[in-house]
This record gives sequence, C-alpha cells and structure tokens, in this order.
Amino acid sequence: MKTDEKITFLRYPGGKQRHLSYFVHFLQHSENSERRYVEPFLGGGSVFFFVEPEKALLSDKNHELIDLYNGIRDFPDDVWEKYQKFPNTKRGYYSIRSWNPEDLDVPTKAARTLYLNRTCFKGMWRHNANGEFNVGYGGQDRRWAICEENLKEVSERLKHAEIRCDDFENIIKKCSNGDLLFLDPPYRPHEREEFNDHYGYGQFEFKEQQRLAKALIRASRKGVKWVMTNSNHEDILNLYHVFFHYPLEKGTGEIPGKITRNCGEVVIHNLREAAV
Ligand SMILES: C[S@@+](CC[C@H](N)C(=O)[O-])C[C@H]1O[C@@H](n2cnc3c(N)ncnc32)[C@H](O)[C@@H]1O
Repeated sequence: MKTDEKITFLRYPGGKQRHLSYFVHFLQHSENSERRYVEPFLGGGSVFFFVEPEKALLSDKNHELIDLYNGIRDFPDDVWEKYQKFPNTKRGYYSIRSWNPEDLDVPTKAARTLYLNRTCFKGMWRHNANGEFNVGYGGQDRRWAICEENLKEVSERLKHAEIRCDDFENIIKKCSNGDLLFLDPPYRPHEREEFNDHYGYGQFEFKEQQRLAKALIRASRKGVKWVMTNSNHEDILNLYHVFFHYPLEKGTGEIPGKITRNCGEVVIHNLREAAV
C-alpha cells in the first residue's frame, strides 16, 4: 500500500499531508519510543497515521469525526460493507445525507460519514443552524480511492490510541512530563478559514489562540513537549515569543524555513530548552 493512501483515507480541509516534511522529524525520531503521542486537533489524522506512534491520545471537538474513528476502529468490516452499498448518484447522496445520525448504529453512522466525506463537494465539513450536514454533492471520483484494506489498516492503527471528543484545553491538561503533542489548530488570520466554517467545529477566534497559548505554556512548565503548525502572523508569534519557530513555504514540502512574503504557516515548538 502506498504511503499516500494510508494518510488520505479522509478528505479534510487543512489536512497536513503536504506539509509533513517540515516537522515530522520532531515526532518520528523521538529518543523515547515509549513516549505518548497526543493530537488534540486530530481532523483527518494525516500526521498520526504517518507517525505511527505506539501509544497515542487523539481528540477533536467534531463528534461526527470521532464517531467515525470509533466506528472504523471497532467495526471495520461492517463499515466497509455498508459504505460500498451506498448509492452512486446525486439523488442517492442527498437521501443518505438526510438520515439523522442519532437514529443510526455505530457502523452505519461511521459508513454514512465516510460516504458523505468522500462524495461531498471538496471534502468540506459544514452544518446548518440545526446541526445538519449541508455540503452539496461533489461526485463519485474520490469514492473508490479507499478500499477495505485501508479501513482495516486504519482500524489497526487506531487500536494503539485512546480516542476522545473534547476541547483542546482539557486534552492538554491531561498531558504530563514525557508526552509529545502535535497541534494543528484551525484558525488562519487573513485567510479564508477566518470567514468560512470549513470544519463545522472550526470557528477559532483569536481568543481561542490565546487560550491555546496559555495551555501550552502551562504544559511546558510540566515538561510536556509540543510541536504546532499555525499562522505565520505576528499576533500568533507574539503569543509564543519564548519558544522556537520557523516559517514553512506552503505546498512544496521540500524547503523548510524559506521565508516568503505571506508564506502562511509556521512551525512553533518547545523541543529545545527555552525560558518559560
Ligand atoms: C486544521 S484541522 C486539523 C487537520 C489535521 N491536522 C489533518 O491533517 O487532517 C483543525 C481541527 O481542529 C478541530 N477543532 C476546532 N476547535 C477545536 C477545539 N476547541 N478543541 C478541539 N478541536 C477543535 C476541528 O474540528 C478540526 O478538525
């Protein structure tokens, strides 16, 4: 199986698969393989699936996403069985979309979410005021890019993880000396994400960034290590001035730290000694 297939089983806005080479060395070559890997903004999980930690705590505020991971971990065969039987027409898509997830058992709920994700417009994750998924039809082109084997592999990997649906602050509070966090919060000042709720659960205002920075400073004092991707924006960098950071150039995946105007994202970390 190709690495790409393993890390793209979900289509997820803001997924980090194209940026892995900028920071993954921090997460993979830990001197301590017993270290717990913690990812509080899990999303499509591209970093977790790439790093393959032995022990992990994974979380996201998006409960449909977490239900999907739980469903695949515990019932990969059932989820695949149901997924492959779903319709391949626009009309069928809207019919499955209209189901109320609350009425479904765990594997059906997971299969429906996976199906909507693979066939909706651009893999967006958006809900109306009633909390109903309301992204339009995108086509079948990406539906069969995943296979039963992918789901089984995802299921096996997830067995190494505790999976939670929680706010990032509660997850960071649970971390202790020796844990290693990767964080990829949603907010991007001056980019479309600021205005569009791509993730459904992704409205992330500046006060959330301040809350995140305070939680990470407290965690650093306990000896928790962390690596984060965030906006390369002075308001964000000011929150982390005692830590280390380097900008990344979007899209190339090859030249870490090359500074370009509005280059977009930055890696911030506390992996060397810093005064906090
Ligand atoms: C940029 S995405 C993560 C993408 C992921 N790194 C990947 O490669 O697919 C940010 C995630 O943060 C989640 N999120 C937003 N607010 C949150 C909060 N307060 N606590 C925990 N998760 C949150 C969103 O649901 C979204 O899945």
